[in-house]
Amino acid sequence: MIKKKILVTGGAGFISSSFVRHLLTKTPHDVVSLDALTYAGNMENLTDVLGHERLSFVHGDIRDRDLVGDIVGQVDVIVNAAAESHVEKSILEGAREFVTTNVEGTQILLDAVRRRPVERFVLISSSEVYGTAERDPMDEEHALNPRSPYAATKAGADRLAYAYFVTYGLPIVILRPFNNYGPFQHPEKVVPRFITQALADRPLTIHGDGHASRDWLYVEDHAEAIDAVLCTDMDSIAGEVVNLATGADISVSQIASMVLDVLGKPATLKEHVPERPGQVHRHIGSTDKAERLLGWRARVSFEDGLERTIAWYQQNRLWWETALRAERTASRSAS
Ligand SMILES: NC(=O)c1ccc[n+]([C@@H]2O[C@H](COP(=O)([O-])OP(=O)(O)OC[C@H]3O[C@@H](n4cnc5c(N)ncnc54)[C@H](O)[C@@H]3O)[C@@H](O)[C@H]2O)c1
Repeated sequence: MIKKKILVTGGAGFISSSFVRHLLTKTPHDVVSLDALTYAGNMENLTDVLGHERLSFVHGDIRDRDLVGDIVGQVDVIVNAAAESHVEKSILEGAREFVTTNVEGTQILLDAVRRRPVERFVLISSSEVYGTAERDPMDEEHALNPRSPYAATKAGADRLAYAYFVTYGLPIVILRPFNNYGPFQHPEKVVPRFITQALADRPLTIHGDGHASRDWLYVEDHAEAIDAVLCTDMDSIAGEVVNLATGADISVSQIASMVLDVLGKPATLKEHVPERPGQVHRHIGSTDKAERLLGWRARVSFEDGLERTIAWYQQNRLWWETALRAERTASRSAS
């Protein structure tokens, strides 16, 4: 394998930190991790690899044109995963940061690549761009009907990257991962929220009747998929959109029950609250294109991934309690 220098944006976040760890432990590549360290970025996500000789960490913003221009000039490959990523936050707190980071940040990176070409630019889009499934499973031709401000900004970045492939011939690949879960995920997201609520013997709050279902991808499977993109001949994937999914869906209510079951907590901890506006009801991704183009298929079953994730949150209580405290302090000072 030829050694490359890879820029991973959002490198202190949940998915990117897992991908950075994957690159450092499973590949020969050098890694530059660029992260603005918003409330979702956490240097502790990288503690075990921070001193690694092939990792440089840059504290900075993808919306900073000069900084981005400098870094892009020094790398061979870009994986753009930096984003405001919390659907509910985009609904309740406004879309501004979502538009500027997710859309404008992507545009700044893409324009930097026009000036200083790279070998490939991988955009981490999202299955949320599809909206509720019109058919099962959802393939890459499914209509884009984003149902939340977050999803709309991801669709904007996704189509912007595609337009730069068509218009300027940039070497773009667009990945649409379905819902991720695993260690180091901020406790605002549903799987770690249920786990941490159960560990603290607090009610697991479920929107509506909990029927909303998603296709759940273990974060290490996701890292392997991005690696597969880096290893695939660019001629066969340039300009392509590829789903990263498992092909099965599990409802929010089922997940709450499974968490309570694994932790030996009573089912009475499940508590229903009003349905979330902009709710996507069902998501199952087609896995055909990822298998055909990348030779990739998710390997971790939901049962196995959930057990590994629960074990991690049991062993890393300080990590999630600190994240929850920071969130409470931030919302107190905002109000
Ligand atoms: N988590 C999921 O289930 C999921 C599913 C599909 C797609 N995605 C996408 O995958 C990517 C990573 O998601 P995640 O769950 O790891 O998110 P995350 O919120 O855990 O991490 C995002 C990271 O981006 C950083 N960041 C935010 N704004 C930035 C900016 N302007 N400049 C530089 N860094 C910035 C944050 O500090 C954080 O470290 C995102 O693009 C998200 O939209 C996530």
